[in-house]
Amino acid sequence: MARLIDSGPGCPTPTPARTPSASEARGLLYDSGVKAETDHLYPLVSDFITPMEWPAVAPLVAAINRLKKQAGAVILAHNYMTPDIFRLVGDFRGDSLQLAREAATIDADIIVQAGVHFMAETSKILAPDKTVLISSLEAGCSLAASITSADVALIKQRYPDYPVVTYVNTTAEVKAECHITCTSSNAAQVVEAVAKEWNSDTVILVPDQYLAMNVAAQTGIRIMTWPGACEVHELFSGDDVEALREGHPGVVILAHPECPPDVLEACDFAGSTAALTNYVKDQQPAKVVLLTECSMSDNVAAENPDVDFVRPCNLCPHMKRITLENILDCLTHMRHEVTIEEAVRVRAKAAIEAMLALPKMATPLAFKTGLKPMEIEVISPS
Ligand code: 13P
Ligand code: SF4
Repeated sequence: MARLIDSGPGCPTPTPARTPSASEARGLLYDSGVKAETDHLYPLVSDFITPMEWPAVAPLVAAINRLKKQAGAVILAHNYMTPDIFRLVGDFRGDSLQLAREAATIDADIIVQAGVHFMAETSKILAPDKTVLISSLEAGCSLAASITSADVALIKQRYPDYPVVTYVNTTAEVKAECHITCTSSNAAQVVEAVAKEWNSDTVILVPDQYLAMNVAAQTGIRIMTWPGACEVHELFSGDDVEALREGHPGVVILAHPECPPDVLEACDFAGSTAALTNYVKDQQPAKVVLLTECSMSDNVAAENPDVDFVRPCNLCPHMKRITLENILDCLTHMRHEVTIEEAVRVRAKAAIEAMLALPKMATPLAFKTGLKPMEIEVISPS
């Protein structure tokens, strides 16, 4: 029989060890001041943060928002940020093109990039007089890591007659070697524009082989590419699309153009993270699935309560390096400033500005779906 343990006077009751929360560890309390500053924000994240967790989160949010005001800082939050960052501390939210445009014109002394390192570099390239911070230097990108400026120099040496477009998911050094940049919002527009400007039947688009294949199918232009891929989107396949249709009859399937071409062939709509967001907002499908990074669905779902989301998603480990805790630490200590050698910055800026100088589209480009995947030449790195 189980023995009852007396815990009366004289019998010390063991107190379970409790680890302080991230806010407590930083001396921040959920007091009446913090409550007053944050109570109105809780409904924005009540689907993701329980009432029990909120007292640990609210002091971080209040401290970040206070520090931003004091320092004249703004937070540029990419669509893949978790909802606490995206909705509670982000000042400007969007896809990589929208954030780049914002950085170029923003009225602030300090930009905190809530996104990955290449995005922070883009901000610094366009806003050299501002202090650009990123809260984790480990927030990289498999595409940015797949190609170096030496690789691009070699490509240009091998194919001197073709314009070289780089996807914006690359380092400043790579951008500096390329003729123009593009994002998933305008890739087809950029490729068509440079093909015309160079009077060339061939365009080199690096480093994302899948984006390049998808743009080739859209434009009919001969594209050569590089063996880079997004480690998140390359995991989706045309078979996933089929399985989703079988498992969730009537579901509308949206995909990012970093997915392999058989995904775009089988899905209902494809475009940048901003294009996917707009689609859900405007079309209000009864049931939808976003084949992209996990936090996108959380952020889009919060703004479209009548839409039912199926959520098979893949996490971007780099985007997830950015947390409320490290944003607070980076603002407190003004640490992880992004710097770029001036000669590189100027050349990278020319490539970005060539893109920004193209006619501004009213909405991000939608990729046509249902197109047969196209085989294209992948340049060998050696
Ligand atoms: P967007 O430009 O569509 O926001 O994409 C950036 C990105 O990194 C997607 O993986
Ligand atoms: Fe890079 Fe892919 Fe992460 Fe976007 S989702 S930052 S492309 S690794």
